[in-house]
Formats: sequence, structure tokens, C-alpha cells
Amino acid sequence: MVIRKAKLTDTEAIHKLVNFYAKKGLMLARSRSSIYENIRNYSVMELDDEVVGIGALTILWADLAEVRTLAVKENHSRKGVGKKLVEYFLYEAKELGIKKVFTLTYQTEFFLKCGFQEISKEHMPHKIWKDCLNCPKFPNCDEVLMCTEIDQKGE
Ligand SMILES: CC(C)(COP(=O)(O)OP(=O)(O)OC[C@H]1O[C@@H](n2cnc3c(N)ncnc32)[C@H](O)[C@@H]1OP(=O)(O)O)[C@@H](O)C(=O)NCCC(=O)NCCS
Repeated sequence: MVIRKAKLTDTEAIHKLVNFYAKKGLMLARSRSSIYENIRNYSVMELDDEVVGIGALTILWADLAEVRTLAVKENHSRKGVGKKLVEYFLYEAKELGIKKVFTLTYQTEFFLKCGFQEISKEHMPHKIWKDCLNCPKFPNCDEVLMCTEIDQKGE
């Protein structure tokens, strides 16, 4: 298994996987246009030339980034793919000097296993809600805000 930055040629695989889960109400749908625009934020896990997991790290402020659009193909779930992608994003965040990474999710057990903690939405700057304006659920967000701090000194 290899984790690498996404290429434009991964767009169809990302689009298909995200919208598969979006139809089940588990994540927000993404258009091809939005994937193209944000392709630099995405990384993929590849197994035998097949994309089996995807996700994005989006920088929001000087010290803050969000893990977004994390998804693993159903037939590859519970094999550590999601956790490895999150670890990769935390490594990426550390390399960028980011101190805090958060996510909005229904998958609280999974993110707890990845070292995130649930926090109150009041504790986050208003800046992070910018993209929420386009969400069909806004302003009644029922996702859980979870956060982890990055140790900038450790190895
Ligand atoms: C959530 C998701 C990304 C997890 O990916 P995954 O590859 O199946 O998860 P992993 O195998 O890496 O699991 C890591 C740990 O979390 C646990 N875990 C994973 N999903 C879990 C769940 N739904 N409930 C409870 N625990 C879960 C695993 O058992 C594992 O525990 P362990 O470290 O003690 O063995 C994947 O199920 C998915 O794509 N879900 C649909 C889309 C979605 O909801 N994405 C989240 C958007 S923020």
C-alpha cells in the first residue's frame, strides 16, 4: 500500500468514493469542480494501482487545518487504511508547522482511535465555518467537532 498526493487523474476515483458515501448521508457530496480546485489538498492510498482510500488536509489558518473528505472503499474498511491516511495528514500538518488539526465527523470512535478528542464547537474560530455555509445542513450541523494537537518538537 502506498499513500501519495492525489493527481488530477484520481478525480474520478475520489468523486465516485465520496459520492457513494454522500448518498448514504455519511459525508458531504463533492462536485468534480470542487475536487479539481482542491486536488492539491487530497491524498490517496493505492493498492495494486487501485485507489482504496482518499482524504484531504485543508489549511484554514496560520496554525489550523482540517481533515476532510476521508473515505475508504467498503471492501477495504477496517484494515487500517483510514488510520494510515489520518497519520499521513498529521505528518503533513507537522511538516507545515500546523499546531492543531480538527475534523467534523460522525465517526467519533474512529477519530478517537486516531488520537482526536471531541471538543465544543464554541471553541473554534468563526473562520472554520466558512465552508459550512454551502452545506445543506447549515446551520443545524449534527457532526461532532474533534481535534488533535500536533507536537512540533517530537520526532
Ligand atoms: C471512517 C472510515 C474512514 C474508517 O476507515 P477504516 O480504514 O475502515 O478504519 P481503520 O481500519 O483505519 O480503523 C482504525 C481504528 O478505528 C476503528 N474503527 C474504524 N471505523 C470504526 C467505526 N465506524 N466505529 C468504531 N470503530 C471504528 C477500527 O476498529 C480501528 O481500531 P483499532 O486501531 O483498535 O484496530 C471508513 O469507515 C469510511 O470511509 N467511512 C465512510 C465515510 C466516512 O464516514 N468518513 C468520515 C468522514 S469525516
